[in-house]
Amino acid sequence: MEHRDWDTLKRDCLQCTGCGLAAGRTHVVFGVGQTDAEVLFVGEGPGENEDLQGEPFVGRGGQLLDKMLAAVGLSREHNIYIANIVKCRPPKNRDPLPDEQEACIGWLREQFALLSPKIVVCLGRVAACRLISPDFKVTRQHGQFFEKGGVLMMGTLHPAALLRYPSQKPDAFADFLALREKIGEVCTHTQLVYPDGE
Ligand code: URA
Ligand code: SF4
Repeated sequence: MEHRDWDTLKRDCLQCTGCGLAAGRTHVVFGVGQTDAEVLFVGEGPGENEDLQGEPFVGRGGQLLDKMLAAVGLSREHNIYIANIVKCRPPKNRDPLPDEQEACIGWLREQFALLSPKIVVCLGRVAACRLISPDFKVTRQHGQFFEKGGVLMMGTLHPAALLRYPSQKPDAFADFLALREKIGEVCTHTQLVYPDGE
């Protein structure tokens, strides 16, 4: 299962019944963005809007994420890839269970292998605990880069948390500025693109 290309991987993922979340989904939310991206963003799992539309981070949190990305020259249309730990929506937006994460993580692993990103940004606790360290503390460790197998990993606040606690937005934005700095240091072909008129 190691040599699927992007189209085959996506087609297979869209058929997956590997865990109980398959039963309640409208769409499998595979991921979106540029397949030559050097920066991979990972959330925890689809919410209601994502389940309905089949794309990650398209609700209110997603709009906030896109705004913060745009401010540092990043977007799903130009230079990043966005995926989730689990590809199907957990009921009532609960955290994905360890079993569900385990069942689904292979898809993300293959996405990671195809991309081979220089930097992985974990959006929120679930992704950071799964990908960086099981005891990751977002409030204390957000914005720090950890090297794992030649890849730089960083955790930041989840956009949904920023909607709930707007006072944390400056902290999150500082993480995005640090990310831009790091991209300048380690990425080779990431072109930052700033929307005009802002
Ligand atoms: N929250 C996530 O973690 N991922 C999404 O795709 C949407 C909301
Ligand atoms: Fe398959 Fe992942 Fe969806 Fe579970 S959450 S059915 S493992 S794609």
